[in-house]
Amino acid sequence: MYGDYFSLKERPFSLTPDPDFLFLSESHQRALDHLLFGLESGDGFIVVTGDIGVGKTTVCRALLRRLPERFATALVVNTLLTEKELLRTVLEDFGVTVPGGTRKDLLDALNRFLRFHLLAEAEIGRRPVLIIDEAQNLAPSLLEQVRLLSNLETEKRKLLQIVLFGQKELQEKLRLPQLRQFDQRITVRATILPLDLRETSRYIQHRMSVAGASGSAFLSPAAERLIHRRSRGVPRRINQLCDRALLAACVRNAARVEREDVVRAAESLFGGSKGVGWAAWPWRWFRLGRGGAA
Ligand SMILES: Nc1ncnc2c1ncn2[C@@H]1O[C@H](COP(=O)(O)OP(=O)(O)OP(=O)(O)O)[C@@H](O)[C@H]1O
Ligand SMILES: [Mg+2]
Repeated sequence: MYGDYFSLKERPFSLTPDPDFLFLSESHQRALDHLLFGLESGDGFIVVTGDIGVGKTTVCRALLRRLPERFATALVVNTLLTEKELLRTVLEDFGVTVPGGTRKDLLDALNRFLRFHLLAEAEIGRRPVLIIDEAQNLAPSLLEQVRLLSNLETEKRKLLQIVLFGQKELQEKLRLPQLRQFDQRITVRATILPLDLRETSRYIQHRMSVAGASGSAFLSPAAERLIHRRSRGVPRRINQLCDRALLAACVRNAARVEREDVVRAAESLFGGSKGVGWAAWPWRWFRLGRGGAA
């Protein structure tokens, strides 16, 4: 709606995890480096965790783009599956014709596929990697199944490398006594953190530029600070706030987003003034008391 107004080619703050918009904060960069390095060095088991909306799926898609050709990947995004469905999905994603029959038939098919790749790697050069997003939803029995897949190995190396992305509950799940063995298998762990204030500002500028905006400073410094506080640095919340605030600025016919636009955006998104944070209030009243706009 405000696209023409700000001369944009596309929506800058869409909620889809589009890797074209990837912004590498220190922690996103570190997670991606750990993933690429871990997979290159043949690490069996990698787990990436982070808060809701912090950018796990975005990093996962960026990883898929950056992994060299020599990796064959299977991506599982629906984690509310039975054990057989999980095996079936993995096989299908690796492009294997899925046999009917028992769980054992499926496991045998996967084993054949992995051993074929191991033997043929020198010629066709592809290493199988299983990536599971939303892994916090995997039932403990399914996590156990995943662990068993990670057991497929020769004397020298793993046949299948596994990467799990999940919200913080995944970490809690992995501490359950029945999953201790699973936890011990993890060779690389990375956590994606929310953005700090400086990163939030660069993130907003980056997304605007990718969307085709020329110039800079689409938001006043006070607007950026409020976006950072109300989003707590979580990119999905930053996107929601920026989208509404840009619309509010456009409706006002203004050239940039002011703090008041963010206040309005936050109210319409999250309701009232809840969550503004205590620190904002004395300051607001102080400003009002002196006749300034909060
Ligand atoms: N590093 C980043 N660069 C650009 N955009 C990002 C980044 N991280 C997150 N986003 C944006 O934030 C939103 C949420 O990202 P994403 O879906 O990847 O989060 P998530 O951690 O997978 O969330 P959930 O916990 O719900 O699975 C998306 O619109 C995405 O484009
Ligand atoms: Mg996700």
